[in-house]
Amino acid sequence: MRKALIVVKLGGSALTDKTAIYTPRRAAIGRAAKQIADLRRRFSFVVVHGAGSYGHIPVKRWHLTSGFKHAGQLRGLAATKSKLLEWELILDEAFLKHHVPLIPLLASDYVVTKNGRIHTTDLRPITNWLRLGCVPSSGGDIVTDLRNGFAILSGDQLAAYLAIKLKASRLIFGTDVDGVFDSNPKLNPRARLLSDLTVTSAARFASRARGSTAPDVTGGMAGKIREAVAVAARGIPVYFVNLTKNERLKAAALDRQVLCSKIIPA
Ligand SMILES: Nc1ncnc2c1ncn2[C@@H]1O[C@H](COP(=O)(O)OP(=O)(O)OP(=O)(O)O)[C@@H](O)[C@H]1O
Ligand SMILES: [Mg+2]
Repeated sequence: MRKALIVVKLGGSALTDKTAIYTPRRAAIGRAAKQIADLRRRFSFVVVHGAGSYGHIPVKRWHLTSGFKHAGQLRGLAATKSKLLEWELILDEAFLKHHVPLIPLLASDYVVTKNGRIHTTDLRPITNWLRLGCVPSSGGDIVTDLRNGFAILSGDQLAAYLAIKLKASRLIFGTDVDGVFDSNPKLNPRARLLSDLTVTSAARFASRARGSTAPDVTGGMAGKIREAVAVAARGIPVYFVNLTKNERLKAAALDRQVLCSKIIPA
């Protein structure tokens, strides 16, 4: 019998220090890798990771948020792509230490966007690697765009797309906070965790939620919830867990009681 598939988005907010350029948080990376290693007997995984401080900061610095404007951007574009590769390698090595056969796939090699939204993909490399028992891994990336030359593809959009197309049993978003709050918990110490959301309540919330306190060019938590709503609307439960805390990812995968938010399909 084929194992149920989980798509997990490892947020750059947890795996890097988003306020300091090119700064991995190795303890959080190791913790995520260990939990996925433990869960592999029960589930197959596609890992999507955020770019964290390897993406959001240089993308802003090199003025890459709105696509191709002039050739002067190309050096910064290439420099950012090269740093994203470095980031991928750091993750791959950490997962290998836990014997997880992570296979890095550049999103820009199999995704083309139109106005920043995924338009065309070739998912065969992902499904083929999955069939072999590997764990395909892609990050938020700069990809070619049919309208704007290139575009920033968020790990959130990619994870949601893959969860739907690959018919995942659940999608788990990991970040540096306990889940979705009624306001940004980094700014409001009295923010309340919204543990159980429906597609309707999450959609309503996303329309008024704010992004991120850290530099984030892809919509922060509000963008993430919008992507999540589309997944839950197709019958796939979506979880939001804190990756800086032990075992939360594992508990969400195994349906154990844990502090998190969940969007329950209608
Ligand atoms: N209502 C909210 N509930 C929870 N977090 C919120 C809320 N509003 C804003 N946030 C912020 O969203 C942040 C997480 O989003 P962010 O995009 O920064 O992380 P990420 O997606 O993990 O990073 P990356 O985009 O690099 O993968 C939290 O650190 C928090 O400050
Ligand atoms: Mg983000």
